[in-house]
Amino acid sequence: MSLPKGFLVGAATAAHQVEGNNTNSDYWLQEHMPHTGFAEPSGTACDHYHRYEEDIKLLADAGLNTYRFSVEWARIEPEEGRYDEQEIAHYRDVIRCCKDHGVEPMVTLLHFTSPVWLIRKGGWAAESTIEDFRRYAIYVTKQLGSELKYICTINEANMGLQIAAISKRYQLMAEQARKAAGKQSEGKVQVGMNFSKMMENAKFAAMENMQAFGSPQPPLFISAKTPETDALIFRAHRAAADAIKALYPQIKVGITLSLHDLQALPGGEPYVRAGWDEEFRHYLPWIQNDDFLGVQNYTRTLYGEGGQLPAPEGAELTQMNYEFYPEALEHVIRRVHEDFRGDLIVTENGVAVADDSRRVEFIHRALAGVERCLADGLPVKGYMYWSLLDNFEWQKGYSMTFGLIAVDRQTFRRTPKESLSVLGEYARETAL
Ligand code: BGC
Repeated sequence: MSLPKGFLVGAATAAHQVEGNNTNSDYWLQEHMPHTGFAEPSGTACDHYHRYEEDIKLLADAGLNTYRFSVEWARIEPEEGRYDEQEIAHYRDVIRCCKDHGVEPMVTLLHFTSPVWLIRKGGWAAESTIEDFRRYAIYVTKQLGSELKYICTINEANMGLQIAAISKRYQLMAEQARKAAGKQSEGKVQVGMNFSKMMENAKFAAMENMQAFGSPQPPLFISAKTPETDALIFRAHRAAADAIKALYPQIKVGITLSLHDLQALPGGEPYVRAGWDEEFRHYLPWIQNDDFLGVQNYTRTLYGEGGQLPAPEGAELTQMNYEFYPEALEHVIRRVHEDFRGDLIVTENGVAVADDSRRVEFIHRALAGVERCLADGLPVKGYMYWSLLDNFEWQKGYSMTFGLIAVDRQTFRRTPKESLSVLGEYARETAL
């Protein structure tokens, strides 16, 4: 079995993680606060803003046929209502460069970062953001739409509920540890934890956020969500997607979701059912008429009778501490297809490992799963590996290496890895 002709095989990046100097964005501000949670600031990132041509050429020379990247709202609209023509021209050049190299550009409008002005106005908790995002989507589509076949409105639009669940777990852990500590010194609670420092930091971080954004807990895109603010993101998607389709009906428009392969051990079934409803099914009313759904998967999550379980004893873990489990992608595609009948594009799938031969293994096994789905007639149209480049992994900084291409942090020199050519081989099979 091989991938069908015309199947999209590519790699993905996000503006903030690769371009460098995204100075008007909320992340930039947070990275530079004295009590920031970021391991390091994004700085020049991979200098992709200036080196995109080299990167797209490497992608194309390896045989890949698609490049998924995001345009940066904070660059395009640095102040509310003022669009920067030079910045939109930059992205026009990136698209042109893709086409010159025979590569299909797939553009994401929002990949986690927002302009500072939007957050100061109430960000991803304010009704007005729906209209602001729609206006931005219309501007980008008017400027670039004639060159595009695929637009992802919002990356991992379901992230906020996952963050809410994680922060709840952390809070519980902190509570338990504080109780267990009693009057003992905190240092004895658990290796590597320093709760008084964390609490102290939280207080200062709140003050710094207040200064920067006018709120101690600014409503960022990735902030923990309530049912209302969760819905707001999907309403923004709907408004933008409908506006794009009205301008260019031929553009395929979709959203992307972060989806785990939720697996139940005996007794874990109710958790899996509830988890899948929360992670995926309750969004169906907003997305079921989209042209495609972007599936993004990295690993599986296990549940037992007491709730979520750690990775199995002895499992191989990635740099992110995820279980190395490429079969998760196939499982997620099959489960999504039970409810969502439109086309599916794997917009992200990848692994952070130092040893590239593990990445090669991951890609082979993940794509074997995609091929099995295709053999069963599932409408999978593409596979984008995350990521083209070793890049800025948000709060974890530059320590995670997801890339098909290594980037020297001093010289920015690119070194393609074996995995790039392996993925390229799959892509070559699909050439029309
Ligand atoms: C995000 C990327 C991120 C990747 C690896 C996805 O959640 O879309 O921005 O770098 O996962 O953690």
